[in-house]
Amino acid sequence: MIVANWKMHFDYKKALEVGCAIKSKLSDAKAEIAVCAPFVYLKDLSECFKNSNIKLGAQNLYFEDEGAYTGEVSAMMLKSVGCQIVIVGHSERRQLFGEDDNMINKKIKSAIKHNITPILCVGESLSQRQNNETFTIIENQLAKDLLDIKETVIIAYEPIWAIGSGKVANSEQIFEVHEFIKKFIDTKVLYGGSVNAQNAGELSKIQNVDGFLVGGASLDAQKFYEIALNF
Ligand code: G3P
Repeated sequence: MIVANWKMHFDYKKALEVGCAIKSKLSDAKAEIAVCAPFVYLKDLSECFKNSNIKLGAQNLYFEDEGAYTGEVSAMMLKSVGCQIVIVGHSERRQLFGEDDNMINKKIKSAIKHNITPILCVGESLSQRQNNETFTIIENQLAKDLLDIKETVIIAYEPIWAIGSGKVANSEQIFEVHEFIKKFIDTKVLYGGSVNAQNAGELSKIQNVDGFLVGGASLDAQKFYEIALNF
């Protein structure tokens, strides 16, 4: 499974241009492909992805369905524009927007209630890794974020120090964390953090890597296509 996380990039015209280019290059791909776009582009992207295997995803949601929550977007709303996937608990949301594990747990439950598959992001900071806290941090995130959840949740392992830094985690680091996650929950585990067309082939050889969550390199349809091709 190869998932694009566009984060907060593109104006409307560019988003549709890149989204439609991804569709035409990858609609027959053997890997499952998803594009997680900013909210305002979802409806038109869903039209563009019609009659293809490309899945439509959002990057966040709020856990209530409706109400006085100025500025928020719910799973019910996402479902109504054709969203099938949603990223939850990305480290940027944890760090920049103060999302805690309790909030993330509620968001995952709300996505599941509306039949949207959550991709839960977990991962350690550089200082946590240096202090040998990686597994404690990840176990803690998984335990709290998945509390009372039995349904399918995809996990993305994104070491914070590897995001947007050009520093990819090495094969052993990825292997052991993915193994640890799979022991905790039997599900697909994606790797995210500086994945690009050059390193995708090597990374995809790691036994328990089920796909990638791609930031920067997903902003270019050709680069994203090459990542999917190399998987
Ligand atoms: O969610 C994807 C992500 O955080 C990785 O970003 O730019 O390092 O591929 P990037």
